[in-house]
Amino acid sequence: MVVNEEDRKKLERIGGVVAETIEEMRAHLKPGITTAELDDIGRAVLEKHGARSAPILVYDFPGATCISVNERAAHGIPGDLVIQEGDLVNIDVSAELDGFFADSGASFGVGEIGEEKQALLDATREALEKAMQIARHGRPIQLVGRVVEGLAKERGYTVIRNLGGHGIGKGLHEKPNFIPHFYDRKEKRRFKEGQVLTLEPFLAMGAKRVNELDDGWTLETDNKGLVAQFEHTMIITRKEPVVLTRRPSE
Ligand code: CO
Ligand code: CO
Repeated sequence: MVVNEEDRKKLERIGGVVAETIEEMRAHLKPGITTAELDDIGRAVLEKHGARSAPILVYDFPGATCISVNERAAHGIPGDLVIQEGDLVNIDVSAELDGFFADSGASFGVGEIGEEKQALLDATREALEKAMQIARHGRPIQLVGRVVEGLAKERGYTVIRNLGGHGIGKGLHEKPNFIPHFYDRKEKRRFKEGQVLTLEPFLAMGAKRVNELDDGWTLETDNKGLVAQFEHTMIITRKEPVVLTRRPSE
């Protein structure tokens, strides 16, 4: 969608709710908690604001939020999995309020994670920040993939190719469909002022794709190596995008 002022206020509201939900879940992310317990914390924040979980609303997902641990990249189902010291945990929250959607994700290390995992988190966060810096009106969408893949290669990581950013607004997924975070020579679209979209690079230790597990939801890296993701919902402008899902602790 392309926004007007009224839409923008509503998007800012749901963006803030999504950010607060991730923040609250992050505060409870400690060894010993189960992913179902974490999900309940997120669900309560959404309910408090009258927001509806997008995965439930749109896909009938078995959880209010997606919680994906270690080699699991996305769409992890909350359940009895117990979080351990040293885990990498991705929390992805998308929700709807008053007809508008926002979507954000972040990977966190639990307790002491060591240098290797920290470096993956740092690189992935940097990749998102770089992508956001270049996403502005008139620029080729292809540049996102160029900078993200460039940074990943420089640090010795791979980019997951079958997950991408996406338009969002009155639906969870809108045009522009699939924004690649790898360099795609066939990508010819350009960013437009007022577009609402997500950027959400997944950087991995060798994996190029994710595969769906037998549970019908969870996406796991093809080499069962670690992966991290950071995602924001933003409005494209003629300067830097307006980020709708920024968290206070970022
Ligand atoms: Co997401
Ligand atoms: Co998304």
